[in-house]
Amino acid sequence: MKILANDGLDQSGIDALTEKGFEVITTKIPQELLVDYINENNIRTVLVRSATQIRKDLIDACPSIEIIGRGGVGMDNIDVDYARSKNIHVINTPSASSESVAELVFAHLFSGARFLPDSNRKMPVIGDSEFAKLKKCYEKGIELRGKTIGIIGMGRIGQEVARIALGLGMRVIAADSNVGRASIKVKFYNNQFINVDIETEPLEGVLKHADFITLHVPAQKDGYMIGEEAFALMKEGVAIVNCSRGGVIDEEALVAALNSGKVAFAGLDVFMNEPTPSKEILNHPKISLTPHTGASTVEAQDRIGLSLAEQICSILQVY
Ligand SMILES: NC(=O)c1ccc[n+]([C@@H]2O[C@H](COP(=O)([O-])OP(=O)(O)OC[C@H]3O[C@@H](n4cnc5c(N)ncnc54)[C@H](O)[C@@H]3O)[C@@H](O)[C@H]2O)c1
Repeated sequence: MKILANDGLDQSGIDALTEKGFEVITTKIPQELLVDYINENNIRTVLVRSATQIRKDLIDACPSIEIIGRGGVGMDNIDVDYARSKNIHVINTPSASSESVAELVFAHLFSGARFLPDSNRKMPVIGDSEFAKLKKCYEKGIELRGKTIGIIGMGRIGQEVARIALGLGMRVIAADSNVGRASIKVKFYNNQFINVDIETEPLEGVLKHADFITLHVPAQKDGYMIGEEAFALMKEGVAIVNCSRGGVIDEEALVAALNSGKVAFAGLDVFMNEPTPSKEILNHPKISLTPHTGASTVEAQDRIGLSLAEQICSILQVY
C-alpha cells in the first residue's frame, strides 16, 4: 500500500491516506531514478503534479503501478491513453483548483490596471528620490467595474472567472467550442445568490469587444490560439491574462502587441518554455508574472489532497 507522491501532496491527502493504512512517500525522486525506485519499493500508486513525467517507457518498465494520479487538471505530463490501455487507473482533480485560478486572474487584472508590476519594480529603487515622477507615471489607472471581460474557454475555470466578474459589476462575454450557454450562480457571503445565464459567441466577437481577455482553454493541438491575427482583432488598449497553458499565446506576438500599445498589459502564470521562460517576457514592464501558481493556494491544495485520497480509496476499495 505504498504511494509515491513525487511532486508532493497536501497534508490533508497524506492524513486521509495514512489513516486508511497507506504509506505515503513524499521524497522527490529524480526522473532518471524513478523506474528503479518504483520497482524496488513495489509502488502501486504514483501521484504527480506537473513536474514528473509519466511516459510510456516508465509505464512499461514499472508493472506494479495500478494508479497514476495528477494533483491538478492538465495531464500533458502523463501518457494517459497508453496507461489506460494497460488497465492503469488515471485520475486527476479537475475542479479542486478552479476558484484559486480564477482569483489569480483577477490578481493579475487588478495589478495591471494599476501598473503594479512596474511600480513594484521601481518603488524600491527610486521611490524615495522620484516619488512624484512615479506618481505621474501611474496616474492613468483604470477600474474593472463596468468594463467587458472576454472569457475564452467557458469550462470550470472560465465559469469561476465569470462568477467573480459578475460580482464585480463587469459585463461578461465568452467563447467556447463546446459550451453554448452557462448558467452562473453568483454566490454572496450571506448565502444569497443570483443566477445569470451567459450565451457564448464566436471567438472573433469576443476578441473584438472585450476590454480584458482571459484564456481558459487546454493546450491546443494546432498551435497558438492567440497570435498576430487575434491581436489585430482586439481593441486598442486591451489587457490579456493567460492562466491556462503556455503555448496558447504566441509570446513573440504578445511582446509586439505590448510594445506597440495595442495591448496595455498582460498577466501570465504559464509560459511557453516552462520552467525557463524567455528573459524578454520576464523583464517586460507591462507583464504581471507568476510562476504557474494558479492552483497554489492552501484551500486548493487541501481540496486536491482530499480528492486524490478519496479516489484512491474508492478504486482500491479501502473503506
Ligand atoms: N495556472 C494553473 O495553475 C492552472 C490550474 C488549473 C488548470 N489550468 C489550466 O486551465 C485550463 C482550463 O481548465 P478548466 O478546468 O477550466 O478546463 P475545462 O475542460 O473545464 O474547460 C476548458 C474549456 O475550453 C473549451 N475549449 C477548448 N478548446 C477551445 C477552443 N479552441 N476554443 C474555444 N473553447 C475551447 C472547452 O470546450 C472547455 O469548455 C486548462 O488548460 C488547464 O490545464 C491551469
